[in-house]
Amino acid sequence: MTNRVTQVSPAPDYRVEMAAVEVTLSGVSGTVDILRGVDLTVRTGEAVGIIGPSGSGKSTLLMVMAGLEQATAGQVRVCGADFTVMGEDALAVFRRDHVGVVFQSFHLIPTMTALENVAVPLELAGHRDSFDRAEAELRSVGLGHRLHHYPPHLSGGEQQRVALARAFAPRPALLLADEPTGNLDGTTGTAIMDLLFDRRAAAGSTLVLITHDPALAARCDRVVRVQDGRIVPDPAAVAPAVMSGVPSVPSGLPA
Ligand SMILES: Nc1ncnc2c1ncn2[C@@H]1O[C@H](COP(=O)(O)OP(=O)(O)OP(=O)(O)O)[C@@H](O)[C@H]1O
Ligand SMILES: [Mg+2]
Repeated sequence: MTNRVTQVSPAPDYRVEMAAVEVTLSGVSGTVDILRGVDLTVRTGEAVGIIGPSGSGKSTLLMVMAGLEQATAGQVRVCGADFTVMGEDALAVFRRDHVGVVFQSFHLIPTMTALENVAVPLELAGHRDSFDRAEAELRSVGLGHRLHHYPPHLSGGEQQRVALARAFAPRPALLLADEPTGNLDGTTGTAIMDLLFDRRAAAGSTLVLITHDPALAARCDRVVRVQDGRIVPDPAAVAPAVMSGVPSVPSGLPA
C-alpha cells in the first residue's frame, strides 16, 4: 500500500484585468483614439472570444494584453503583474515566461527550421531541454515528419501548427490568438482550432481569441464585442449574426 500525499499549491492567477484602458496614438495625420475606455476581466482558465467590426480595436486590445502596446491611460494587470508600472525589459521577460501569441500571418522566422522556430525561444528563455521539448510540441501538433523543414516549404496549416507549437512550448499562462485561421481554408482552419483548444486544455491556459467567425467565437466560454474602441456591455443579448460584424452567416452554423 502506498501513502498518498496531497499537495496543496496556491491557485494560479492567470487573470487579465483591464480597467478604463485607453490607447491614443499620434501620427502625421493627428491623434487617433483607438481604445476609449475598455473594462474587461478574463478569469483564470477562461476562454473569451473577441468579435467586432474591422478597425474597432480588437488587435490593439490584444497587443495591450500582451504588453506589446502600452496603454495611454487605465489599468492593465495580467497574471498579477501590473503592466502600467513595468518597463520594456520587464514586459519582454514577462511575455517570454507567461504569454503565447498566435497571429493570422504565422510570424515564423523563414531562415529557421520548424524545430528551430520552436526551440530557439525556449533556449533564449533558459530551458535546458529546449530541442527535446520543441520536438515533443511539434509531434503533438502532428508535425513530427516536418521538423527540419523551413517555413517557406510548409503549407499554411503546417506553418500555423508550428506557430501553435511555439506558442504552447513554454506552457503559457495566457494564450492570445489574433484571427489564427484567417489565412486558412475552412477545413484546415477547423483542424487548427481543434488543436488550439486541445493544447490549451492540456496547458490550462487562459485564452483570448479574436475571430470574425461566429462559430469559432461560440467555442469560447464567453464572447465580447468590441465596437469603436469600447466593449459592448452585454453581447449575450445580441444575436451571433449581428455580433460578428460579418454581413451573412453561412447556413449550417449555430444560430
Ligand atoms: N499605429 C497606428 N497609428 C494610427 N492608427 C492606428 C495604428 N494602429 C492601428 N490604428 C488604427 O486603430 C484602429 C484599430 O485597429 P485594430 O488593428 O486594433 O483593429 P481591428 O479591430 O483588429 O481590425 P481588423 O478586424 O481589421 O483586424 C484602426 O482604425 C487602425 O487604423
Ligand atoms: Mg485585427
